[in-house]
Amino acid sequence: MAILTDPFDVVVLGAGAAGLMCAAFAGQRGRRVLVLDHADRPGRKILISGGGRCNFTNIHTAPDRFLSANPHFHKSALSRYTAADFLALVESHGIAWHEKTLGQLFCDGSARQIVDLLLAECDRGNVVQRYDTSVTDVSHADGRFRVTAGERSWSAPCLVIATGGPAIPKLGASGFAYDLARRFGLKVVEPRPALVPLTLGGTEALFRELSGVSAPVIARSGPAAFTEAALFTHRGLSGPAILQVSSYWRKGEPISVDFLPGRDAGWLLAAKRNTPRAALRAMLRDELPERLAQALCDRLGAELMLPHDIGNMSDAALRKAEERLRQWQFCPTGSEGFAKAEVTAGGISTAELSSRTMEARRMPGLYAIGEAVDVTGWLGGYNFQWAWASAMAAALAL
Ligand code: FDA
Repeated sequence: MAILTDPFDVVVLGAGAAGLMCAAFAGQRGRRVLVLDHADRPGRKILISGGGRCNFTNIHTAPDRFLSANPHFHKSALSRYTAADFLALVESHGIAWHEKTLGQLFCDGSARQIVDLLLAECDRGNVVQRYDTSVTDVSHADGRFRVTAGERSWSAPCLVIATGGPAIPKLGASGFAYDLARRFGLKVVEPRPALVPLTLGGTEALFRELSGVSAPVIARSGPAAFTEAALFTHRGLSGPAILQVSSYWRKGEPISVDFLPGRDAGWLLAAKRNTPRAALRAMLRDELPERLAQALCDRLGAELMLPHDIGNMSDAALRKAEERLRQWQFCPTGSEGFAKAEVTAGGISTAELSSRTMEARRMPGLYAIGEAVDVTGWLGGYNFQWAWASAMAAALAL
């Protein structure tokens, strides 16, 4: 028989970014809050995020930088708790920060400072925290949720699911949120790895020989396009541009890579007029890392039977070569999966939740926030901003 300890107003499952934020601010509003986590310490993903400096938000946060089955769902929470709001919180803790690129804000010091910020805010809200606590059962009766972990049990009228998604299981990530949601009758949008390296096979496996080479590109998957670096790896493709398109990519579809992002259309035809003695190989070497230029040129040469000097090539051949370089099609065989994914796309269906409060429509008192929900941000601080904003939406309603 489990021992029922002090009653709480709210039990938050998961002491990650969203769970700690929600617990802190619900506590500061006078709620008696308990946070449970099966890990031995809070915020493990925060600690390793942003290469140890935590890219804690993005000043360009806007609804179109998030994927969800309902592209409108996240608008409310994101507009009520903005990147500027979180930045003000960071500054109120005296944490020095800098913008790295593309609106991405990082700690000057360490990601530990963000975890310490959240823990200090939890202390201000008298939040009770329990770690190394594996939840064995969650039930609901008489308007209260009862959470059991072995011999211990807690009850509260409100339960917040903040256990994230299964990306990087070795950090304690799990699909627990989905099991729990389904138990209470909520639908789950099929979870899939996102912000994840893609794998190449077949004839494209040859590109793996370029492992370590990176270049600025425009990567596209369907309507999504990202101008950033791509990196060839021993398994396929990675780097920010590829991670970004991976969230949009579906198995069986190609991705397209523009290797000439800095050049105007018609570059090769203009070069034929201006520098007819130039060799395509040399021109590409001026644009791209040598090994990549060589590999692309070899493939173009084999496919289009190109002679060396561009002055000797037909306009049609040059147009075709440029088109290939601007729309290089890769057909990934898959992704490196949840083991290497930075986030999970999909999750608890937004159709089940109030966009204002994150409360489940058909189960009053049950809330879901953060990565557990079917809202996934781009690379660059957007996922933490969703964690903060969805947590705050729930905290203000609890
Ligand atoms: P989060 O995963 O943070 O927390 C979930 C908590 O629930 C964890 O503490 C876990 O232990 C706990 N839990 C899980 N299952 C449980 C169970 N069964 N019982 C009890 N507890 C359970 N984003 C960004 O915006 N900027 C960045 O710089 C980065 N960098 C980055 C690097 C790496 C390597 C990864 C893997 C991810 C990022 N991210 C990121 C993504 C970001 O870390 C992520 O989106 C947020 O941490 C999600 O916050 P949540 O609180 O929803 O889940």
